[in-house]
Amino acid sequence: MSQVKSKTIEIENLVIGTGAAGLMLALKLATRSKVLLISKGELTECNSYYAQGGIASVLDVNDSLEQHAIDTIRAGAGLCHEDIVKLVVSKGPKAIQELLEMGVDFTKESQNNSTDNQNGLHLTIEGGHSQRRVAHCNDITGQVLINALIQQVKSCDNITICPNQMVIDLITSDKFAPNFGSNRCLGAYIFDRITHEIYAVKCGRTFLATGGHGRVYLYTSNPDNATGDGLAMAWRAGCRVANLEFMQFHPTCLFHPKAKTFLISEAVRGEGGILKDSSGRPFMDDYHPMGSLAPRDIVARAIDNELKKSGQSNVFLDIRHLNKEKIIHLFPNIYSLCLNYGIDISNEMIPVVPAAHYSCGGIVVDANGKTNVERLFALGEVACTGLHGSNRLASNSLLEALAFADIVAEAAFNEPVEYMRENIPTWSSGKTMPPDEQVVLSHNWGR
Ligand code: SIN
Repeated sequence: MSQVKSKTIEIENLVIGTGAAGLMLALKLATRSKVLLISKGELTECNSYYAQGGIASVLDVNDSLEQHAIDTIRAGAGLCHEDIVKLVVSKGPKAIQELLEMGVDFTKESQNNSTDNQNGLHLTIEGGHSQRRVAHCNDITGQVLINALIQQVKSCDNITICPNQMVIDLITSDKFAPNFGSNRCLGAYIFDRITHEIYAVKCGRTFLATGGHGRVYLYTSNPDNATGDGLAMAWRAGCRVANLEFMQFHPTCLFHPKAKTFLISEAVRGEGGILKDSSGRPFMDDYHPMGSLAPRDIVARAIDNELKKSGQSNVFLDIRHLNKEKIIHLFPNIYSLCLNYGIDISNEMIPVVPAAHYSCGGIVVDANGKTNVERLFALGEVACTGLHGSNRLASNSLLEALAFADIVAEAAFNEPVEYMRENIPTWSSGKTMPPDEQVVLSHNWGR
């Protein structure tokens, strides 16, 4: 049973979530203030860590911010907010530069190939992009990025890191301190998953960087903890939410009874992979002029249509025509994982299916990442900034996380820190009790 800790922690900034958005934001806030950084599990248990493809950014002299914006809006099926698209794409080159300065080891172009970008990076291409503009670390970009950011936060004196802490609910003035006037976020109740205690954090500013809710779906590329808790608590606190129906399905997750959630990066199609049916017929040209590299929603729907027509359980991604060395160089992780499942992708087609991947909607925020509840910000996948419209352009998610970390930190510094004067009431679980049958949980989950 949980106990209530009598102590209340007081801190200027509470950052909830340790994906790319939360970690980068914590670093930026810590240049001028103290940060408590909370993670539901270990720091690496987040969607960002599993991102394979990379970070979309205009780095090549033949590319332009305008073209990146056009591609983003086209992929978003006209529902993107143009001002936000322009803002975010303009921040790409600075974000990549900052990561290079932190030592993030992006894949470089091989010496034989000339490059048209200043840092000699190998840029890949993914669905919906009209140019090569995805900076990446082989096929484990998220892993390399998150490890680099974790190293930075760990060496920062102004950041206190608390893994395995689950936020239960936000503390708002509407509920507990009506003298603040308009509804304001004043902190959060937190459950310590190690000690099973519940304590309160009083803070000046609260930042939700809690990721998406792909785990609501049975088949998803997301890790187990992508359960949408941040979105739910923001809703309970009075935040506006939008576009929740726009769950992006990634077209190519590995179809194998033992591979729970393994993604075959869209960069595989960028480098020449072709989608085929079980007879080996390429089918994407029937659906879109960009073929296998059409925007993600179009490819996922095309696969769904093919599966319904044929009654088959999966389609195939074929990269057998690529040079084996190139496959192993660009996709070492995908190559070795598939090999572990008995599939040599250099001479066998890869069985794939679409799966829930990214929440394009979320908590509505303005161009500074502010929600409609005062002193409560949201960024990363949990937020709905207007960048993605109804379908996110590939590799724009890490870009958005990093861009908004910068924007939100600046906006937050303009908000004076004021703490709630009242004592925070101890958490009450009401009449809830642990279920005597754990099966109830899995029934609810399944439903
Ligand atoms: C991928 O590598 O295909 C995923 C990249 C993304 O979701 O943007």
